[in-house]
Amino acid sequence: MSFEIRNNVFWVGKIDWELRKFHGEEYSTHKGSTYNSYLIKDEKTALVDTVWTPFSKEFVDRLSEIIPLDEIDYIVVNHSEPDHSGALPLLMEAIPDTPIYCTAQAKKILKGYYHKDWNFHIVKTGDKLSLGSRELVFVSAPMLHWPDSMFCYLTGENILFSNDAFGQHFASENMYNDLVDQCELFEECIKYYANILTPFSKLVTKKIEEVIGFKLPVDYICTSHGVIWRDNPLQIVNKYMEWADKYQENRITIIYDTMWDSTRRMAEAIAEGIKSADKKIVVKLFNSARSDKNDIITEVFKSKAILVGSSTIGRGILSSVAGILEEIRGLEFKGKFASAFGSYGWSGEGVKMINEKLEEGGFRIIGEGIRELWNPDKEASMRCIDFGKNFVKNL
Ligand code: FEO
Repeated sequence: MSFEIRNNVFWVGKIDWELRKFHGEEYSTHKGSTYNSYLIKDEKTALVDTVWTPFSKEFVDRLSEIIPLDEIDYIVVNHSEPDHSGALPLLMEAIPDTPIYCTAQAKKILKGYYHKDWNFHIVKTGDKLSLGSRELVFVSAPMLHWPDSMFCYLTGENILFSNDAFGQHFASENMYNDLVDQCELFEECIKYYANILTPFSKLVTKKIEEVIGFKLPVDYICTSHGVIWRDNPLQIVNKYMEWADKYQENRITIIYDTMWDSTRRMAEAIAEGIKSADKKIVVKLFNSARSDKNDIITEVFKSKAILVGSSTIGRGILSSVAGILEEIRGLEFKGKFASAFGSYGWSGEGVKMINEKLEEGGFRIIGEGIRELWNPDKEASMRCIDFGKNFVKNL
């Protein structure tokens, strides 16, 4: 499949309906994904990005049906991560001298991955590449989300090729934002932002303000994953500005794991306390051993506060809780509150350990948390309900 977006600008990527895990096993892709590659034909022809390695042959074969490969004059690598550069080695076997336009960092990374001395042309913000009647303007976007990341803009057609930015892991035969289910689309967009871009939020704001400052008209945003934004394309840019600004809703997420249901019962009693103190608040509970971690992270991103619970086991906490805490710590959430809870039998250091991890992750900790011995009885459950009420009052 390939299709024309506008005046000899073609989508030549790959829809991956089967993908369920991305970044190894790190990111769940319940709805598959796409690897978007674009071909721009003018007096000169440019290819913007390729596809993931397993689809190299399919990509190169299909590309050669659209255009003789030796008629590709330029290759632009907006980002060197293998989901976009993976087909380069096979493509370059066919056209080894074709110049590759990329940032200095991308050159280093491509050499690190593929160990080839291709014909690299280093570009930086403001550099231009004439294709004839139109030109590509480059904008480097370091750490959005890798050091090499770059956007490019096609004059005349007002198309921003933004690579990962504004993308989402979402396979659809309807490759435009106005043709897909909006709830599904935005859920995948916010999941992508929460799990990948959260730590770079300050840079997101700065880069968007810089690009807006160029005052370039934008009719299309062609990302490297998911749909092309053509209906009000700036709506996703506005969403990014909102998400980058310590985003939160009136929502609390409770994450726990439990050995004999004691910590689960504590979690439910705490949720009851929260709801009785604030009827409008959204409270969601996730057993971290049974839930998708990226979905949990998305809920944390939306929340103004979280509560994390674990039974104490040995001298520590349950491994699924330790795992999600490590994910949360690495994402450097800002402006959120937290506290810990858990059941124990004798030493009971789990709650303290969770609070320390949360503090390390940048959360503002409320109180010392709550721990209950063995299986909570009626009085212990009441203490958990009160804990939930007080937690909300202290936000
Ligand atoms: Fe879609 Fe950073 O690769």
